[in-house]
Amino acid sequence: MSPADPDSTRARSSQLLPAARHWIAPSILSADFARLGEQAQAVLDAGADLIHFDVMDNHYVPNLTVGPVVCQALRRYGIRAPIDVHLMVRPVDRLVPDFAAAGASYISFHPEASDHVDRTIHLIREHGCRPGLVLNPATSLDWLDYTLDQLDLVLLMSVNPGFAGQQFIPSVLGKIREVHARIRASGRETRVEVDGGIKVDNVAQVVEAGADTLVAGSAIFGSADYAATIRAMRSQIARGEATAGRAVR
Ligand code: DX5
Ligand code: ZN
Repeated sequence: MSPADPDSTRARSSQLLPAARHWIAPSILSADFARLGEQAQAVLDAGADLIHFDVMDNHYVPNLTVGPVVCQALRRYGIRAPIDVHLMVRPVDRLVPDFAAAGASYISFHPEASDHVDRTIHLIREHGCRPGLVLNPATSLDWLDYTLDQLDLVLLMSVNPGFAGQQFIPSVLGKIREVHARIRASGRETRVEVDGGIKVDNVAQVVEAGADTLVAGSAIFGSADYAATIRAMRSQIARGEATAGRAVR
């Protein structure tokens, strides 16, 4: 697969970002991998905005998932929505061109896993994708000091990375508020994504704190009716925005 792969170029250039201000991103980690294309299309048909694609390498995190060929397979299956690749791998740079060629839209990585964070951010952009930085629950926001103006996404982990179905860590709420305030002050459109333990019953507080992109794995794929779960999440998004005194767009 080369960066000029016509399939991936076509897939990415035809992508429009979702119009809604808040995006719901089901994580494939909780999907049935034997039916991944069908499951990804089902959650999009049920109202999800993008597909969150968790990549684990058994080094940076103690779990192993999927790589670029599976991302490319989703594109070839016909998934047109943005694919939000979350790299939990070390080293990072080797995989960036492959995921870009495979049709990734966003590529996010953990700064501890890259020797040269600025270089990795630029590498992602040079390959036509939107860069994101992922901060673990105990990782300092200092990482944003010299990177925020180059990022399209800040992904705040609300569990320790590696597994689906863990409990939401509430101390991330303060980090969401702080990142949201820093992004507002910067005037940029950088997204604030939260990943881990997101359920219908904590969506409102996460949105109230300033998150606009919500990853949910087990809460969506583990539910009997994807559309009903996503509808319930949307109504909690509206509640969170109202509590924060913001109008929902
Ligand atoms: C965890 C992954 C998450 C995970 C979320 O390391 O990055 O995206 O799939 O799963 P839930 O929503 O079940 O916590
Ligand atoms: Zn993730």
